[in-house]
Amino acid sequence: MVGDQEWYSISKNRIGDPILIDDNALLQMANDMRVNAYCPYSKFPVGAAILCSDGTVFTGVNVENAVNGLSICAERTAIFKAVSEGHHDFVKLAVTCKGDHCQPCGACRQVIYEHAPNIEILMGNPEGEFVRTTIRDLLPEAFSL
Ligand code: THU
Repeated sequence: MVGDQEWYSISKNRIGDPILIDDNALLQMANDMRVNAYCPYSKFPVGAAILCSDGTVFTGVNVENAVNGLSICAERTAIFKAVSEGHHDFVKLAVTCKGDHCQPCGACRQVIYEHAPNIEILMGNPEGEFVRTTIRDLLPEAFSL
């Protein structure tokens, strides 16, 4: 629950209604995922949720490894899950972790840009506070082919 709104109103929708997933709902989904983070080394759980244009949401967590370079961040987990399932049209990405708000790392910014150069990003924390930005603001002059 973020604030005093009821987020998961999907079940109230009639067939054919657009699915209502507002910013706080997406942040809530991202944050709820943090319990699944595999982070025995950093002990720093991160959750992400990416919204597709058809209303589908894919979630992700950071999955660490004893070999440092093999760890993956929550944002990339969510994106790779979505792309693996055939989704390419991304609208919004929420990511949460403890602190002021959760800023995607440089590697994730490049991956986000690759798949969603116009995506909006909500950088949140477990208290429901968040900062709204875009990948273009987070990664100016991005490399692409
Ligand atoms: N991490 C993420 O999953 N996403 C971010 O935006 C920031 C960092 C992870 C990587 C690592 O497992 C842990 O947080 C600490 O760096």
